[in-house]
Amino acid sequence: MSDLEHWREEFPILARSVYMISNSLGAMPRQTARNLAEYAETWATRGVRGWEERWWEMPAEVGDKIARVIGAPAGTVSMHENVTTAHMAALSCLRPTGTRKRIVCSAMDFPSMVYLFRAQQTAGFELHVVPAEDDLTVSTDRMLDAIDASTAIVAFSHVLFRTSYIMDAGAIIQRARQVGATSILDTYQSAGIIPVDVQALGADFAVGGCLKWLCGGPGNAFLYTRPELLATAMPSFTGWLSRQHPFDFDLESDLDVRMSQPADADLRKPRSDPGLRGDAMRMMNGTPSIPAYYAALAGLDIIHEVGVQRIREASAQMTARVLALVDDYGFTSAASRHPERLAGTVAVDVPEAQLVSRTLKARDFIVDYRPPVGIRISPHFYNTMDEIEQVMAEMASITKMKNYADGAGPTLVT
Ligand SMILES: Cc1ncc(COP(=O)(O)O)c(C=O)c1O
Repeated sequence: MSDLEHWREEFPILARSVYMISNSLGAMPRQTARNLAEYAETWATRGVRGWEERWWEMPAEVGDKIARVIGAPAGTVSMHENVTTAHMAALSCLRPTGTRKRIVCSAMDFPSMVYLFRAQQTAGFELHVVPAEDDLTVSTDRMLDAIDASTAIVAFSHVLFRTSYIMDAGAIIQRARQVGATSILDTYQSAGIIPVDVQALGADFAVGGCLKWLCGGPGNAFLYTRPELLATAMPSFTGWLSRQHPFDFDLESDLDVRMSQPADADLRKPRSDPGLRGDAMRMMNGTPSIPAYYAALAGLDIIHEVGVQRIREASAQMTARVLALVDDYGFTSAASRHPERLAGTVAVDVPEAQLVSRTLKARDFIVDYRPPVGIRISPHFYNTMDEIEQVMAEMASITKMKNYADGAGPTLVT
């Protein structure tokens, strides 16, 4: 028994299924149900006093727990509904100028981001999408070549969602910095499963969420803003949460300051609005999703206690075993064979992968399917080597027998 197996008791779903889908939705900790009950109790008994007693500052409380997982200082992580809105908060600090208007991203970024970046063209940005290689990775050299003095923003995934390929984030961020562009790193598929240190990487912004490897459920995306930028950032996607005295409901001071600030893509030019908060909540806008924060607390505490380095070691052993079994069973995989480039997921391709994936789910082997890479197997620290053997044996059996579950055809949510 591994020294991590005692954690299994803390995750109820592990007793009833082989849960291999933490790249999509991490398992719920038992404590989360108690925390959500506490939220309900607070609402029921304290009512609106909940805001002054805890809720107003709760985004900062949860943000600080996330900060220690991603190497950020306290007070630099704000909370948002999803990663798309977190990106938007960062993007909204930047304006295109005559010579610097390009957003550089990659074709393997999560599509929601590319839709959002494309939409920024209506605001005067240009988009450059670096194409994928044949093996569905993105070459560092191609990224570096795409970044030049016309680049305003470099926004890219730390770990690619289809293949779990780990990008050379340090080199790409360094290049962005050298040419005077702002970097936004998407850590959704890295935070909680491989070590992430946003400060060491030098990222200007980093986004991510608690839904997946941080076991915190939906509604808990986050945005790290480099401390120097926090002091001066003026997001246009803003609202009363960002203000030092939101309950003054003052319209005049904000207007004066905003209109006197020149629109400019250079975040490094000092600006100031004394009415804005100096901490991460400066990047927020409207009323925050309090129940989602209660849901996030337990997972974050557990990840911190287990330690991301320890998680990475366990994960690397399990993904290596999946790849060995891929070879034994004669399947194929788009996963990198260089362990230092592979994060938490191994995508396994088999004939009729979508039907096989749906059949696995029907039999309580919880995985997902993403074209064109196939079935994604994503063990976390709470999974075991036995479970790896089981899910791969089941996959082999379904592939051989073709005894697909009834109703295993395509559905809207895969
Ligand atoms: C790398 C990455 N970014 C973003 C997202 C999702 O973004 P959002 O929270 O806006 O739905 C995902 C979801 O799977 C992802 O893997």
